[in-house]
Amino acid sequence: MANGVAGEKIEKTETVKIIYARRAVRKYKDKPVDRKLIEQVLDAGRMAPSAMNKQPWQFYVLTKRDMIQSFSAEIAGVALKGILKSGISGMKQVIKTAAGLLHFPHGIDLHALKDPVFYGAPVVIFLSAPRGSEWAALDIGMCAQNIMLAAKSAGLDTCPVGFGKYVENTKIYYRLHVPATEEVRLAIIMGYGDESPEMHERIRDNVLFID
Ligand SMILES: Cc1cc2nc3c(=O)[nH]c(=O)nc-3n(C[C@H](O)[C@H](O)[C@H](O)COP(=O)(O)O)c2cc1C
Repeated sequence: MANGVAGEKIEKTETVKIIYARRAVRKYKDKPVDRKLIEQVLDAGRMAPSAMNKQPWQFYVLTKRDMIQSFSAEIAGVALKGILKSGISGMKQVIKTAAGLLHFPHGIDLHALKDPVFYGAPVVIFLSAPRGSEWAALDIGMCAQNIMLAAKSAGLDTCPVGFGKYVENTKIYYRLHVPATEEVRLAIIMGYGDESPEMHERIRDNVLFID
């Protein structure tokens, strides 16, 4: 691929600063997020574009620590069990997934052990959309990015958690009250971050101008 725009940066407006400042944050302060603020951030999610203006998203929000920990433990169990059962290239995949689930950059603390999927965040948002909808995954992705950027601009941090979709296979899924016609696509964790991760270098040789 051509590399004509490597490292070129757009002028740093407030929006652009937020885009560049957002990180996947996996360590949170023990501080609740005001409900009104959660609602405001979700409203920014609603402003995302969606195919044919379907606005297919539904949000299921957890803020109770014991409930978050229960879902976290259940999802971790389901994810690992599924991979063990599928037997794909055996242990390699299991180790990779376990490493993904048990991401402890600051050493193992009690919080992380009790909440291996949601990293002790005080807010977990499950995003669902109608089952089988062709464009829903893209719509949810756009909605999720709006949520994460709005959160950042409000002084909050986030991390998208793909493992969140395994919630459907847990025995406590019914507690979310998601109708059978919907499918959970993603979770986003949110809270006041307690780490400042370095930026992951971006791959920049991926543009080709067709002149
Ligand atoms: C669809 C999606 C699913 C993800 N799932 C997880 C996850 O389950 N657990 C996790 O810790 N991070 C997850 N992440 C976060 C990525 O690891 C992170 O965005 C990536 O490493 C880039 O880092 P940055 O967001 O700080 O730029 C996910 C990100 C996306 C977009």
